[in-house]
Amino acid sequence: MKILAIESSADETGAAVVENGIHILSNSISSSLLIHNITGGIIPETAAREQIKFIIPVLQQALKPLIKSTTSTEIIKIIQTEIDSIAVTIGPGLIGSLLVGVESAKTLAYVTNKPLIPVNHIFAHLYANWLEQSKTIEFPAIGLIVSGGHTELFLIKNHGSWKWLGGTRDDAAGEAFDKTARLLGLGYPGGPAIAEIAKRHTEKNRVHIHLPRPLNDQSLDFSFSGLKSAVMREIQNLKKNNVMNAEAQSSLAYELQESITDVLVSKTILAAKLYRPKSILVGGGVAANSRLKEKLTKTVIKEGLDCLLFIPPPSLCTDNAAAIGSFAFFCGKPSSIFSVNAYPDFEVEV
Ligand code: KG4
Ligand code: ZN
Repeated sequence: MKILAIESSADETGAAVVENGIHILSNSISSSLLIHNITGGIIPETAAREQIKFIIPVLQQALKPLIKSTTSTEIIKIIQTEIDSIAVTIGPGLIGSLLVGVESAKTLAYVTNKPLIPVNHIFAHLYANWLEQSKTIEFPAIGLIVSGGHTELFLIKNHGSWKWLGGTRDDAAGEAFDKTARLLGLGYPGGPAIAEIAKRHTEKNRVHIHLPRPLNDQSLDFSFSGLKSAVMREIQNLKKNNVMNAEAQSSLAYELQESITDVLVSKTILAAKLYRPKSILVGGGVAANSRLKEKLTKTVIKEGLDCLLFIPPPSLCTDNAAAIGSFAFFCGKPSSIFSVNAYPDFEVEV
């Protein structure tokens, strides 16, 4: 079963062809990140305007490997002969961006008469773990989703059977990275920039900074908004003492990354101790953070948890259409094109 998947929830425009939920036949992505790097964040209208330009070339690229020498190269013809279903992100995300993907998918499904599968892209983040995976993912699983707008913990009993365990009460983990990066003048997206600068921090560094580990209690909720204020206070102090230099910047980045990853690890392990899963699945842009991977891997072993940890390769952690195709295969329900709409605030608490 081949699914053509489309994802356009934020700044990226992606299209992929996924076979049986696990094999990536193609995964094409175009990003307007460079523009947003200059502006220090996504400007919704700019993102959507760029996506309108990108969507057809991205679809063409995703369908290219399916062209047979004897058949037409037109996307409609390729979908008609090679694709079984079309899946699309319907939310959460930016309305203008979502509409580009949703309306394109509806049009393609209508013209080709293929089933259309609407997808919540936050859940789909975890399905990146099924793609090109050599190990078996067993249920029950604990799922940690850490993206730009979401920090959520789920108990997944089976495909399509999810129980929300907790989430952020204010900012998401990705947001804490992005907001701190903006304060440090590091551009957007903040996570990779903070991770890069944090590498420069060493024990010999003369500037030592301590940030809190917010809401590091026995609940399965998170809170990251206080970190931004704590960073602002640190920057003010450093400036007052005339030591806001490159060394101080790397110390701040390092400590922020330590604080966020400490809390993410301790809550995920707490959930694993409570529910004794066979697998822990991580997904979303922040899952690309190598320090998070390192700490989670070590802690799962240290705590003697009898489960396997799955984190996708970095390119499949951030928004991508292949994960949408995998989720659609395992959990998707085809809908009438007339009932499929974009939902910017699509709920995840199930
Ligand atoms: O899942 P995603 O691509 O988009 C959303 O659905 O939001 O996540 C984007 C978020 C941004 O906040 C970005 O700063 C963060 O993921 N991110 C990272 C890393 N790469 C991306 N955060 C920490 N370390 C990274 N390496
Ligand atoms: Zn995402």
